[in-house]
Amino acid sequence: MFDDKGHYLGRPADFNDRIIERKLRLVYKVPGFIGKEYTLMDIGCGNGAYMLRLADKMKSCIGLEISDEHLSQFNEYMNQHHINNSECKIFNIEKNDPPMVVDRLLSFEVIEHLTTEDSLSFYYKALKKDCLLYTSRCV
Ligand SMILES: C[S@@+](CC[C@H](N)C(=O)[O-])C[C@H]1O[C@@H](n2cnc3c(N)ncnc32)[C@H](O)[C@@H]1O
Repeated sequence: MFDDKGHYLGRPADFNDRIIERKLRLVYKVPGFIGKEYTLMDIGCGNGAYMLRLADKMKSCIGLEISDEHLSQFNEYMNQHHINNSECKIFNIEKNDPPMVVDRLLSFEVIEHLTTEDSLSFYYKALKKDCLLYTSRCV
């Protein structure tokens, strides 16, 4: 996927990709990351394949995603699994401040697609004090 300037935005994992289970197992191992008392944000959530798998274990979830290409898949998964505490916002994190602050932040394979390192400040601004960020990038 490319933006209107030809910048490559990356391609989300598919819902049945094995990488999703593998990465979620790592998330579960982080002490205190998962919990019904915590709000979760997934930056660059794509189709929501990670975040929506965690939705029933969190207070609420918000995905921020620049492209609307995967929104129908996101909504379809929500409906099929009767998830009612989550949403996906079409949102460019390089052009806006966070719509809210959260307790837990996920962001897989997104930072390498940002156009400037300054955009990483968004991650800092989106986190409440004493909260946790789990991120990874492709090398
Ligand atoms: C490689 S995909 C990873 C998607 C998902 N996190 C996963 O691991 O399956 C990168 C995602 O980040 C999104 N993205 C890239 N730049 C973004 C930006 N500035 N704001 C919000 N989302 C962005 C892309 O549209 C794409 O869905």
